[in-house]
Amino acid sequence: MRITLDTIVKDNDPILRTKSEDVALPLSLEDRQLLNDMITYVRDSTDPELAELYNLRPAVGIAAIQVGVPKKMLAVVIHEEEETIEHLLVNPRIVSNSAQYAYLKMGEGCLSVVDEHQGYVPRAARITVEGFDALKNKMVRIRARGYEAIVLQHELDHFKGTLFYDRINKEEPFKEIEDALIID
Ligand code: NI
Repeated sequence: MRITLDTIVKDNDPILRTKSEDVALPLSLEDRQLLNDMITYVRDSTDPELAELYNLRPAVGIAAIQVGVPKKMLAVVIHEEEETIEHLLVNPRIVSNSAQYAYLKMGEGCLSVVDEHQGYVPRAARITVEGFDALKNKMVRIRARGYEAIVLQHELDHFKGTLFYDRINKEEPFKEIEDALIID
């Protein structure tokens, strides 16, 4: 079933705060279908014609809980100058992270969040993630830095029911973060 902006759970729905569970491997047909729907959404969302046709809001990632399924699955598609980075991960977890922080200068957004929440979202500048890659059909270890690391951490937060604005300093949303990598 095609995921559209209408089928995405918004943050006024408490289900978004549900903790996601591990997924059984090998993948069931149902889980594989959902993963396929998730990556299709993210891939198509940045194509202006498809986005218009199917009512997609541009995104770089989605987690299964955002379509109401509390399972540890995420899809990420990042277009860089030279290449496109795609991750379709099952049961991913962070096995190590840098002490140094990074944040997006413009703040973060989320398909489930309609209102604007301004402020810096501190993340680890570098992470190592392990999990099952549903595109490669094998266990993988990913070393990510900068923007890719931030996007992965944002999606992994959804497994805990955490939203990006939970991490913004309430008193001083734009408080400088010492020694942080700032990403434009
Ligand atoms: Ni999100």
